[in-house]
Amino acid sequence: MEFHPEVAHTARVYDWWLGGSDNYEADRVAAARTEEVFPTIRVTARKNRDFMLRASRYLAEQGIRQFLDIGTGIPTEPNLHQVVQEIAPDARVVYVDNDPLVLTHARALMCGTATGRTAYVEADVRQPDSILGASSLTETFDMSQPVAVSLVSVMHFVEDQHDPYGVVARIMAAVPRGSYLVMTHATPDLGPEMLEVQRVYRESGMPGQIRTRAEFERFFTGLEWVEPGLTTPQRWRPDGVQPPAGMDARVQFYAGVARKP
Ligand SMILES: C[S@@+](CC[C@H](N)C(=O)[O-])C[C@H]1O[C@@H](n2cnc3c(N)ncnc32)[C@H](O)[C@@H]1O
Repeated sequence: MEFHPEVAHTARVYDWWLGGSDNYEADRVAAARTEEVFPTIRVTARKNRDFMLRASRYLAEQGIRQFLDIGTGIPTEPNLHQVVQEIAPDARVVYVDNDPLVLTHARALMCGTATGRTAYVEADVRQPDSILGASSLTETFDMSQPVAVSLVSVMHFVEDQHDPYGVVARIMAAVPRGSYLVMTHATPDLGPEMLEVQRVYRESGMPGQIRTRAEFERFFTGLEWVEPGLTTPQRWRPDGVQPPAGMDARVQFYAGVARKP
């Protein structure tokens, strides 16, 4: 994928909401338009990111030592490898993104622990074999051992014509039993605003396809839910108190973690 700062891009818009500085005028215009239709989108970004870190930490605590993070985003501290290598210094992480700007930051993602390893693959999730066959993945992972696959806030950028269910099934077929799928996804179920966000994204030149609860659940076909099952990012094993009832409408994402039996 080529670098086009004049067209808004999902990674850079998300970076803006998380308070980063790797974004351009077109990204900030799209971000502002999105905030007009969904004023709490920064809350969504934060809750999504926090879920990703909690779920990864949980899986490291369960003994998982290999993490495949697809749709990594521009580095935002703490990054996934920092969280899991704090628990397991020998944990190995392979990051994947198709945004060239993320690639320019790959070095920041590579400074893992002495015993652990991190690697980066520039690839498009719509071509899963380009990820699974990448030498930096096959040299970093032992594919006979379980892998935690994270697809966090990325599958809603894969529209139906690109076979999103086939993509996830292909990736989960390539990892052994005892592997996990960690996902979040934007949904129209929890309030009217997310459909408006989809419209703004498409008008700004970014792909977008939000999905219902049943459509989200379908990604986990054949997998076993980890408690609490299909929920929202902020309700998945929160640190401390449960979020207030109104929070789901402010976030409008689903989340879940499931194990390959
Ligand atoms: C909203 S960010 C999420 C970042 C991170 N997963 C998180 O939740 O904090 C979405 C990321 O997915 C990447 N992405 C979007 N479409 C992709 C595709 N087809 N293949 C690979 N990465 C993609 C974007 O470049 C961006 O970095």
